[in-house]
Amino acid sequence: MSALLGKKILLGISGGIAAYKCAELTRRLKDQGADVRVVMTNSAKEFITPLTMQAVSGHAVADSLLDPRAEAGMGHIELAKWADLILLAPATANLIARLRAGFADELLTTLCVAAPAPIAVSPAMNMEMYLAPATQENINVLAQRGLHIWGPGKGPQACGDIGPGRMLEPDDLVTRAIDFFNPEKPILAGVNISITAGPTQEALDPVRYISNHSSGKMGFSLAEAAQQMGANVTLISGPVHLATPAGVNRIDVLSAVDMHQASLQGLNDCDIFIACAAVADYRPEQVADQKMKKQQGVDDLTIKLVKNPDIIADVASANDNTFCVGFAAETQDVERYALDKLKRKKLKLIAANDVAKSGQGFNSEKNALTVFSETERFAITLADKKIVAQQLLAIIAQQYFAG
Ligand code: PMT
Repeated sequence: MSALLGKKILLGISGGIAAYKCAELTRRLKDQGADVRVVMTNSAKEFITPLTMQAVSGHAVADSLLDPRAEAGMGHIELAKWADLILLAPATANLIARLRAGFADELLTTLCVAAPAPIAVSPAMNMEMYLAPATQENINVLAQRGLHIWGPGKGPQACGDIGPGRMLEPDDLVTRAIDFFNPEKPILAGVNISITAGPTQEALDPVRYISNHSSGKMGFSLAEAAQQMGANVTLISGPVHLATPAGVNRIDVLSAVDMHQASLQGLNDCDIFIACAAVADYRPEQVADQKMKKQQGVDDLTIKLVKNPDIIADVASANDNTFCVGFAAETQDVERYALDKLKRKKLKLIAANDVAKSGQGFNSEKNALTVFSETERFAITLADKKIVAQQLLAIIAQQYFAG
């Protein structure tokens, strides 16, 4: 008892089949000491009755914006001010779209517009509706506005489909609420994360090498954000000119072969591996001992390259327990190539980076990513790499803990 003692939670129920779980959810929140008031949309009442919700919450259910009795007692503005947290569960595709647009034509959306309290959204809908670009974009915009997105879970759905879109179970939502009010426990507390960053240098001779334009900023931003989210972070960095983020364990490497070796060491303890480095796919077969001399009368030089080890593919196949996240830097057919890498390298997630667009990708301050799992996609719109890193890690954490 008492993890939520005295917390005022406004449970907003919209019209989805998962609404039937709200009686159980309310009980569990109250078991933890929360005071729960319920607001229902008209369609929610088709799935669970206000009488049930009144009985379990101990308060009359609010369902009308223009209710003279309610306005005389706890009207919509008071209700909005009352809450410490507004939990929208289940949040249908329709409710999410209306929130994004800022509708205020019925009680629940009006409360969300008027409330100073934080809002947590627990999406629940059919898989195709959840994956629809409009819904994904709406959820992404809500997340960027600072709303908390809790779920959805994956599994069999009421319509018979199997995939993402299930409302999180009442116990999971209660855990999220407890964690929310208990910020001392950061989201990635105790999780071991290794991140590769920067370019690799593939030596030709003692003074020359093959490399690329990666600055390391994206990987270092990820390391900083992961550390701030409570993770134990190992940053395996190619040659860059960046300071090590506070609290991060840094291993410096030069070549792909060095990075491969450093990545595989300590893999037993690695929970999440994020490959952000721009690793050279090939290296010179021979590295000259001395500086290669320009030869008089010779206008062409052919250098034979051999393939480098694929670091993330080897990490993914070496340890089934490590949650592997790759990047795909592409200049064309971004989605197709990214999905191919996701599958071929046996990754859990891949962050597709369109590096043909100016102002993002290699050696810029900003980035934009589309993140793919086998069944889902998430858009992270153009922002400073530090913000993009936080958003990517929130997606990774959600997928990692969802199992
Ligand atoms: O460092 P910045 O200037 O901030 O730029 C960031 C970035 C553009 C480098 C970064 O956002 C990014 O897109 N990194 C991936 C770059 C890349 O080389 O992608 P790729 O599509 O070639 O490789 C696919 C994945 O396999 C990547 O996760 C890569 O790290 C990994 N890989 C590739 C080759 C190899 N031999 N081993 C690998 O692990």
